[in-house]
Amino acid sequence: MPVMRNIGTLYQCLDEGGQGDVQPIHDAALVWHGDTITWVGKDSELPSDGVEGLGDGESHNGQCSCVMPGLIDCHTHLTFGGWRADEFALRCKGASYLDIAKQGGGIMKTVRQTRQVSLDRLKWCVCSRSVRMRRHGVTTIECKSGYGLDVETELKILRAYQQMSQTLPTRLVPTFLGAHVVPPEFEDNRAGYLDLLCEELIPQVAEEGLAQFNDVFVEDGAFTPDEARRVIECGKQHGLAPKLHVDQLRDGGGGELAADVGAVSADHLEYTSDAGIAAMAKAGVVAVTLPMASLVLRQPPLDARRFIDAGVPVAVATDFNPGSAPCDDLPRSMSLACPMNYMTPCEALKGATTYAAKAIQHGDRIGSLKPGMQADFIQLRCHSIDAWLYWQAPSSCDIDVYIAGNPARRTHNQDAPEQPPHA
Ligand code: NIG
Ligand code: FE
Repeated sequence: MPVMRNIGTLYQCLDEGGQGDVQPIHDAALVWHGDTITWVGKDSELPSDGVEGLGDGESHNGQCSCVMPGLIDCHTHLTFGGWRADEFALRCKGASYLDIAKQGGGIMKTVRQTRQVSLDRLKWCVCSRSVRMRRHGVTTIECKSGYGLDVETELKILRAYQQMSQTLPTRLVPTFLGAHVVPPEFEDNRAGYLDLLCEELIPQVAEEGLAQFNDVFVEDGAFTPDEARRVIECGKQHGLAPKLHVDQLRDGGGGELAADVGAVSADHLEYTSDAGIAAMAKAGVVAVTLPMASLVLRQPPLDARRFIDAGVPVAVATDFNPGSAPCDDLPRSMSLACPMNYMTPCEALKGATTYAAKAIQHGDRIGSLKPGMQADFIQLRCHSIDAWLYWQAPSSCDIDVYIAGNPARRTHNQDAPEQPPHA
């Protein structure tokens, strides 16, 4: 059984405890068998059968570093055609997200480009982006469709995820986002687009096993709460669990809606009211904060303290997409979540591991380090989580990645300049 010894601090990130409880073990060891963790604890308490029979290469040196669960990016729009740098420049001059969308830019620009690219191109994007994310310590990625908005292209995006998940070590968790915006073909027939989603697309996505979740963007310029209910209920009948993009640009009652439909997570939430937060707490909805999108669109960031104090777990994700969050770097989002969302580094870590796993209903297998969980973990050459996320370029740290017990990425940064500062 492989073992890693001499770990400076191992963060277990168990579901128990509050948002900031990451259960650090100093001078730790970790044992795994095949793809599964079998023992975690203090190195001095390592049972002798944990190290017996070790062959060459089966003893890994923790090098006094930090070890934690593989990071989980629980909200991304991973594959699409083209980019939208022109809009970034326009927004920096003051144009709003909705103004740009009204002029034919925004989500519809990416939809036009995604309809034109091949399945192979979309698969290549999944591959190259997941490799970049792995360098940042990400071992699981939730990935949405939503840039097709017609039968052919929505299925093309989800098939790109399905086919790549068979070859990549990274775990991909697909979400159907046919209800991203109403495409122009249906501008005068919104009900017709909802019919297409509910009568054709959702049944086919479910039948082919192409998605686990069904997401709706509820906003001015996207879908109303009533339209969202119809799409969500239809998804539930076909076995797709609900997720929602809500309250990003104004309070649209998103927290209450998420609670009402039994959403697994509600994401964005910049403008969610106290009543919405209370409803989410009661219904057990996970909040997902996306600080990069708040920063890029200049939205007032979600105050995570309001959610945490009310008993709502807060997950942290990138929202990687070509418009509001063109950044695939989850550690950077975790660093941003500290000053922007008033989260401590330990709270941000729990948000990108334990609670991110909860936001994609995978908490029984990933997101924590304890016996029985998948051996997805990362080793960072830094002193502590506080020191890592204080450094505002945390993904420049040396990060070794293990997925299902196998080394999936090693850093050999001989001439690394300075490592992140110590406490
Ligand atoms: O999560 N809010 C809606 N959808 C994406 C943005 C999509 C885009 O601008 O292309 C988001 O921010
Ligand atoms: Fe999003």
